[in-house]
Amino acid sequence: APMEHSKRHLVLIGMMGTGKTTIGQAIAAQVPLPWKDTDQALVAKWGCSIADFFALYGEERFREEETQMLEACLAEPSLLLTTGGGIVLREQNRQLLAERAFVVHLDAEPEEIIRRLTQTNEERPLLKGDLRQRVYDIYEARRELYRFADVRVDTTGKSIDEMATAIVRAWQ
Ligand code: S3P
Repeated sequence: APMEHSKRHLVLIGMMGTGKTTIGQAIAAQVPLPWKDTDQALVAKWGCSIADFFALYGEERFREEETQMLEACLAEPSLLLTTGGGIVLREQNRQLLAERAFVVHLDAEPEEIIRRLTQTNEERPLLKGDLRQRVYDIYEARRELYRFADVRVDTTGKSIDEMATAIVRAWQ
């Protein structure tokens, strides 16, 4: 059935390690929306990894690129969009998202995030050094910035499909 939505896009935000990609994949299997990911789209555009881009050009340039990519994605017809954990750092991004998307904040306690991030070997430039300390610092610095979301989902102890179904229901 066609969905009527003033806030057309369905967007997942949240810290690294909260499951945006995993849950995004499960949602993509349930709804007829094209799925895009801001990080994946940037990697495809540059032809280099996020880690390499950070090393070559620094975080500020990355944030510029990220904002441009977000704007481009939100200008498209309805998308399922997963985002980098830092998408909320810029007020401009939070405003755009609040206006144009149904925003879902995926949340987990720092200890759970640390556990999950320790299990992946994906290179994350912001976690270089003391992973535990970095996660706690970033969690504290951003917790308020994720609050504008339409819904918050605690991702601890739930199955991926259960969360995907709940999110789709909230969005519809
Ligand atoms: C970042 C999160 C990463 C990626 C970049 C910066 C952040 O995405 O955009 O390394 O600032 O939290 P994930 O949240 O998919 O790991």
